[in-house]
Amino acid sequence: MVGALHCTGTPTEQAHAQPEGLRDNRPLSRCLWYPKPLMTDRYAVFGHPIAHSKSPLIHGLFAQATGQALEYTAIEAPLEGFRDTLLAFRAAGGRGANVTLPFKLQAFELATHPSEAARMAGAANALKFDGERILAENFDGMGLVNDLQRNLGVALAGKRVLLCGAGGATRGAILPIAAEKPALMAVANRTAAKAHALQADFANHLALHTGGYEDLGGMTFDVVINATSTGLSQDRLPLPPDVFARDALAYDMVYGKGLTPFLQQATEAGVDRLADGVGMLVEQAAEAFVWWRGVRPDTRTVIDRLTVPLT
Ligand code: ATR
Repeated sequence: MVGALHCTGTPTEQAHAQPEGLRDNRPLSRCLWYPKPLMTDRYAVFGHPIAHSKSPLIHGLFAQATGQALEYTAIEAPLEGFRDTLLAFRAAGGRGANVTLPFKLQAFELATHPSEAARMAGAANALKFDGERILAENFDGMGLVNDLQRNLGVALAGKRVLLCGAGGATRGAILPIAAEKPALMAVANRTAAKAHALQADFANHLALHTGGYEDLGGMTFDVVINATSTGLSQDRLPLPPDVFARDALAYDMVYGKGLTPFLQQATEAGVDRLADGVGMLVEQAAEAFVWWRGVRPDTRTVIDRLTVPLT
């Protein structure tokens, strides 16, 4: 921070940290002559559009509950201007950022130090600035797993898990789910070739069953996750009804849309354990908060506050 004197070390060391001409071995208490600016740590979520984002509300509630002094805003970067907008934010003192559509791939590319989760997803949803270094993370998958296991009480170990869709959302979810040791993991996608491509990319990590929806005939799953964008488009997936096991959980990654076509479809197949992605949203935010601030916020009250009934 410009103008800050860090009053640590011995009085002699402190004296040498003072600007030329002012070295007089004054004790620690005299350091006040060179004030440290009282700047609130700044964070923001970047996207386009961004007005709908719940992240400022979520992080504001986390900050309030944990007593952290920080500012968190939403910034709409121009479609061709993500890099410049983000770097200007960093230059103005930004400490970290969340990134949402359509900039997650660019955020990953800008990172100097991406985590393994970000590398495997090929996308970042959280950044931390550390001098010239840009650290990147992808907490979406961890947010999903935490929501499934901690909030919804579905232990993934030994379960049969189906991910519908083969885009970025699925890519980010594969390793965190695999880490919980399910009995079977499958990815089905409208364009089967994209699902097969994922199998090749993750071949060193796990055995993934991949194909089109028509290839699911005769297969049954305990957890069926919709990671396609159909929650927004109102389209249905061509899922065989017996894809849902008895007591299966149907999980749609979109949030706040009530009973989406996928959840409706699951209901018609007899499924009564339904969830949307509100918990995933709050849990990924909590992971970013811990990463930035070193304090874990409680998520339950925030999830309850944001939950829209599935009707
Ligand atoms: P994201 O990063 O959110 O995963 P994406 O990479 O654009 O978004 O991927 C969108 C996913 O939704 C894809 O798996 C897409 O299927 P295709 O690969 O065949 O395009 C899936 N999707 C979108 N609309 C769909 C629809 N009407 N029916 C079935 N799948 C659909």
